[in-house]
Amino acid sequence: MARSCLAIVLAAGEGTRMQSAMPKVLHKIGGLPLVGHVVRAVQTAGATRLAVVVGFGADEVAAAVRPLAAKAEIFTQTKRLGTAHAVLAARAALQKPVDDVLIVFGDTPLIEETALGAARQALAEGADIAVMGFHTDNPSGYGRLIEKGDRLVAIVEEKEATEAQKQITFCNGGLMAVRGKHLLALLDRVENKNTRGEYYLTDIVALGAKRKLEVRAVAVGIENVIGINTRLELAEAESLWQHRQRVAHLQRGVTMLAPETVYFSYDTQIAADVLIEPQVFFGCGVKIAARAVIHAFSHIEGAEIGGAAQVGPFARLRPGAQLAQSARVGNFCEVKNAAVGAGAKVNHLTYIGDASIGAHSNIGAGTITCNYDGYNKWHTEIGENAFIGSNTALVAPVRVGNGAYVASGSVITENVADDALAFGRARQVNKEGRAKELRARYAALKSRK
Ligand code: UD1
Ligand code: MG
Repeated sequence: MARSCLAIVLAAGEGTRMQSAMPKVLHKIGGLPLVGHVVRAVQTAGATRLAVVVGFGADEVAAAVRPLAAKAEIFTQTKRLGTAHAVLAARAALQKPVDDVLIVFGDTPLIEETALGAARQALAEGADIAVMGFHTDNPSGYGRLIEKGDRLVAIVEEKEATEAQKQITFCNGGLMAVRGKHLLALLDRVENKNTRGEYYLTDIVALGAKRKLEVRAVAVGIENVIGINTRLELAEAESLWQHRQRVAHLQRGVTMLAPETVYFSYDTQIAADVLIEPQVFFGCGVKIAARAVIHAFSHIEGAEIGGAAQVGPFARLRPGAQLAQSARVGNFCEVKNAAVGAGAKVNHLTYIGDASIGAHSNIGAGTITCNYDGYNKWHTEIGENAFIGSNTALVAPVRVGNGAYVASGSVITENVADDALAFGRARQVNKEGRAKELRARYAALKSRK
C-alpha cells in the first residue's frame, strides 16, 4: 500500500541578503516562485498533505502557494527561533497520523523528485530518519554529518564543530524524511543550548540515534540542496534550472539549434518534433503542438501554437494568442488575445490584438487592429479566406466577412460584408507633367535664397 506523506515546507525567512522588499521564497525561477518549485517537487514525490510554515510576508507567501496546492495548511511562525521551532509551528498537522514526513526548505528550488523519493525509500526500507546529505570540497557553513558505519549519529553545525569535525566533507543539505510517529516526540526534546540559541532541527538526529532509532544519510547531488540567499545564487540556480529544462525537452524530442539560448518557464509544454531556432524566450503558459517551428528571436508567453505553425523570426506572441494548425506569424508581428485560424498568414510588421482571423486569411504587411480607444478594448473579427491589403488600419469594433477583400492603405471603420471589396482611402489623382513644373518652381525658390 502507498505510504501517506506529509510535506512541511519551511518558508518563514525574510532573506535579507536578497536586498528585496519581497519575501525571499517569492523570487522566481522559470517564472515560478522558489517555494512553488519546492511545492511541485514534494507533490511529484507523493506528498498527500502539505503544510507551509510562513512568517515574513505570510499572506503573500500563502497566496503564492494556494494556486498550486489549494488544500495546503498554512502555519505562521511569528518568532524565528530555529529550524526545529519552525517545524513545530506545524504541530497541528503533525498530530494527525502519517507514515512519512518530508521536511523541506522553501528556498531550495532545485530539489528533485528523485532525491525526495530516495529519502522516502529509506523510510520504506526501515529507516526512521533519512537526512539528505551531499559531498563537497567546500563544506564551510553547512552542518557536518557524523556517521558510524552506515548509521548517522549526529549533525554538528559549523559553529559547534570541532576542528576534526570541520574536516568532514559530507554535509547536511537540510532536508529530511522522518517517520511520522516519531517526529513530534523528537522535536519536543530539542533544546536551544547552542551558540545561536536556536532550536536546531538537526538535533533530532542525535536524539533519534540515542533512542536506537535507525538514522541514515542519503547522498544526493549538491544541486538538489542549493539554497538561495542572494541574487547571485538566484541567477546561478536559474541557469542550472534552465539547463535541466533544455535537457528534458531535447530528450522528449524537441530540436534546438542552440539550446543554451532558449529560455523556458516552469509550465512550457512543447511536443516532439517542434524545431526551435536560437534566442527564443518562453514566458509562462506556452503550449506548442508537433512540427511547429519557432524561428529565431521570438518572445512568446501565454500562447497556444498549433501543429506545423510557424512563428518568427522576431515575433511576439502575448497572452491569449492562439495559432491554429499551420498558421504563420512572421517577423515584427505582435499577436495578443487573438485567434489566428488554420493556415492563416500574418507575416510582416503587424499588430493583431483582441481579434479573430478565420482560416486561410491573409493579413498584409503593416496591418494594425486599432483595438483601444484609451478606455476600452474592442474586438476585430476577420472571416475565412479574407484578404487584408498592406497598411490597413482596422478600427474596432469591426468585422470583415468571409472572402472579403480590403484594399491596401485602408482605414476600415465599417463592417465589410462577405465577399465584398472595401476601399477605405482617398482616390488617387494623377496630374500629367506636374512633377516637372513643381521641380522648376522649387529650384527657382532655392536659387533666390
Ligand atoms: C541549515 C541546517 C544545516 C544545513 C543547511 C543547509 C539546521 C539547524 N541547520 O542551516 O545543517 O547544512 O541548512 O542549507 O537546520 N527557517 C524558518 N524558521 C526558522 C529558521 C529557519 O522558517 O526559525 C527556514 C529558513 O527560512 C530556511 C530554512 O528554514 O528556508 C533553513 O534555515 P537556515 O537559517 O538557512 O539554516 P542554515 O543555517 O542554513
Ligand atoms: Mg541556509
